[in-house]
Amino acid sequence: MNYQEVIEKYGTPSYVFNIDELKKRIEYLKDKLSLKYDLVYAVKANTFISKGIENEVARYEICSPGEFAICNKLNIPRNKMVISGVYKDRLTIENMIKNYDDILKYTIESISQYELLDELTTKYQRKINILIRLTSGNQFGVTVEEIKKIITDNHNPLITIDGIEFFSGTQKHSLKIISKEIDKLINLVDTIENEWNFKIKEIEYGPGLPVYYYQDDVFDEDEFLKEVKNILDKIKNHKVTLELGRSIAASCGYYLTKVVDMKSNKFANYAILDGGINHLVYYGQTMAIKVPYFEIWPRRTADLVNYSLCGSLCTINDFLVKNINVRKLEKNDVFIFKNVGAYSCTEGISLFLSRDLPQVILYQNEKFKLVRENVKTSELNFPKNL
Ligand SMILES: Cc1ncc(COP(=O)(O)O)c(C=O)c1O
Repeated sequence: MNYQEVIEKYGTPSYVFNIDELKKRIEYLKDKLSLKYDLVYAVKANTFISKGIENEVARYEICSPGEFAICNKLNIPRNKMVISGVYKDRLTIENMIKNYDDILKYTIESISQYELLDELTTKYQRKINILIRLTSGNQFGVTVEEIKKIITDNHNPLITIDGIEFFSGTQKHSLKIISKEIDKLINLVDTIENEWNFKIKEIEYGPGLPVYYYQDDVFDEDEFLKEVKNILDKIKNHKVTLELGRSIAASCGYYLTKVVDMKSNKFANYAILDGGINHLVYYGQTMAIKVPYFEIWPRRTADLVNYSLCGSLCTINDFLVKNINVRKLEKNDVFIFKNVGAYSCTEGISLFLSRDLPQVILYQNEKFKLVRENVKTSELNFPKNL
C-alpha cells in the first residue's frame, strides 16, 4: 500500500481499510482454525469492510436495524445474515419476516424474542431457523432452563431450532476460559440431546479471539490458534461456526493523522495531530502509555526526539502516545497507526468537540477508493428548529 499516494489523494485524518490484506487474514484464520469451521463476521467490528469479504465468510452477524440497513443496501445476501441482538424491536423484525423470505436465521436472546418470532412467523407463514443464545451471566441470552422451555414449548412448524449460540466477551487471552466454555457447551448439548431428546444441529461460538495491539506485547498467534483449534476439536459431532469480529478486522485498518503543530515546555515536546482519541480506539484506555504499531510518513533520518502525541480535542486525555522517541518531526508528517480495522472507527467519542469524522478509504485490488467523505458532526450537534 502506497502511503504517499493515499496521503496526496485524500489527506488526513482518514481510515484506510485494506481489503486485500483482510482477505489474506481470513485465509490465515481459516488455515489455523481449520476449514471445517465456518466463519461468521460480526458486522459491528467494522461495517465498511463487510462487502469485501462476501466470499470469505459464511455468514454475517447483524445486531441492529442499522447494521441490517447497511448490509441490505450493500446487497449482502440475506440468506447469509443471522439476525441477532439483545433488543429486536417489533417493527424491524416484522418488516424482515413480512418482506423477506430469504432471511433464514435469527437468534433468540429472551423468551419474549421467541414469542415475537412465533407470532410473526405464524402471521406471515414464514419459515425460519433459530439459534438460542446461552447467557454467560449477563443481560445477553437466556438461561439453561429457558432454553429447555423454548425447546419443549416450540410447536411452531415454521420455526426450526438449529442450535445454540454462545459469546461471553472480547479480547479473550485465556485458553483456559475458551476451553471451559467449550466444555460447558458440550455438556449442554449432551443434556439437550440425551435428556430432553432434542437434536442439535449447530453450535455458533464467539471465542473473542484476542488482538495484540502494542509493540511490547508478546503473542505467538500461530501457537495460540493451534491450541484454540485443539479445544474446538473436542466438539465431535456438531457443526461449529465461529463468530468473529476483532480478530478478522483489526489488522486491515490504518488511521492516518498528520502533525499540525508542535510545541515544547519543561515537561515534554508535543506534536499536535489533526485526529485524536475521538477516532482512534484500540481496547481499554492503555493507549497513551503503551505504544501501538505505527509508521511515520515521510521516513526521516534526523536525530531521535522524544514527543508526546496529542489529538485535537480540548481534553487533557487526548494523548495518542506519551513519551515516544521518533526521528525529529516536521509539520505535515503523517502518523499511520496500524491495527485499527476493528471497532476503532465506531467506538471513539466522535461527537465530542464537533470535529469531523474522518473519511474512509478502501484499498482493494491495489486501488484506493473513497467510500465515506468527512462527516460534519457539527450538523449532528446542531439544535434545529430554534
Ligand atoms: C454476539 C457477539 N458475537 C461476536 C462478537 C465479536 O467479538 P470479537 O470482536 O471479540 O470477535 C461480538 C462482539 O461484541 C458479539 O457481541
